[in-house]
Amino acid sequence: MSLQHVVVVGGSSGIGLATVKLLLEQGFAVTATGRNEEKLAQVKASLGGDLRTMAFDAMDAGATAAAFAGIGSIDHLVLALGSGHGAGPFATLAMSDLLAGFQTKVIPQAAVAQAALPFLASEGSITFVSAVSAQAALPGTAGLAAVNAAIEAIVRVLAVELKPRRCNGVSPGVVDTPWWDAVPQQQRAALFEDFAGRTPVGRVGQPQDVAKAISFLIGNSFMSGHIVTCDGGLSLAG
Ligand SMILES: NC(=O)c1ccc[n+]([C@@H]2O[C@H](COP(=O)([O-])OP(=O)(O)OC[C@H]3O[C@@H](n4cnc5c(N)ncnc54)[C@H](OP(=O)(O)O)[C@@H]3O)[C@@H](O)[C@H]2O)c1
Repeated sequence: MSLQHVVVVGGSSGIGLATVKLLLEQGFAVTATGRNEEKLAQVKASLGGDLRTMAFDAMDAGATAAAFAGIGSIDHLVLALGSGHGAGPFATLAMSDLLAGFQTKVIPQAAVAQAALPFLASEGSITFVSAVSAQAALPGTAGLAAVNAAIEAIVRVLAVELKPRRCNGVSPGVVDTPWWDAVPQQQRAALFEDFAGRTPVGRVGQPQDVAKAISFLIGNSFMSGHIVTCDGGLSLAG
């Protein structure tokens, strides 16, 4: 029998998908969500275990509320959705793109956390996914830093406000996922090589690396109000 029920929002790709896989292996019942039904059907078909899927757009308040009413009781919530809006050199950063960064990451992560609250166990947890740009002072990431710092600020407050529920965040460094698909393949390979060279562990991350950090936060009932940086040391080395 499954131990506990985890909902992974953004569970059809990248970090969220790796988290879904790991949690299923660990015996959790998992609901994976995303916008694209076809991608979710592929995930459902390729993974065994106690997995349900649900398609909804977290930017649509009505759809999000209806989804959580349908999902029912939850032990843990993982918020692994976001976008690349807000990236790029500050001098040419369009303020509309910075706003889109908030609209496609901060607002939907917060809105989903809020919609899930009535269904979330009092001994449960919420794990947000921010990004190391919030702390690392990497040129070209001022917009992403603002977006992800907002998420990290929310985490600490909610850990106190929503007690005894736990609230944490994972702050990934550069991770090889479809998030980077907008960057042409050759350029992406060069970028990853450059980041790997600047990262103390000598490589960019894999989604499984971040999934392990998320699983740790779900499983450790003495962790609340913290951001776990999972970046291979990139934020220390620049
Ligand atoms: N990859 C990196 O290098 C990196 C580094 C630091 C932080 N992060 C953060 O990690 C998180 C996950 O990124 P990833 O790399 O795993 O990206 P990804 O592979 O593109 O996955 C994003 C997931 O979020 C879902 N999603 C996006 N917008 C949604 C919405 N409005 N409603 C519902 N689902 C939505 C996508 O589903 P659909 O495709 O169906 O929309 C997909 O399942 C993001 O917040 C990202 O900023 C990533």
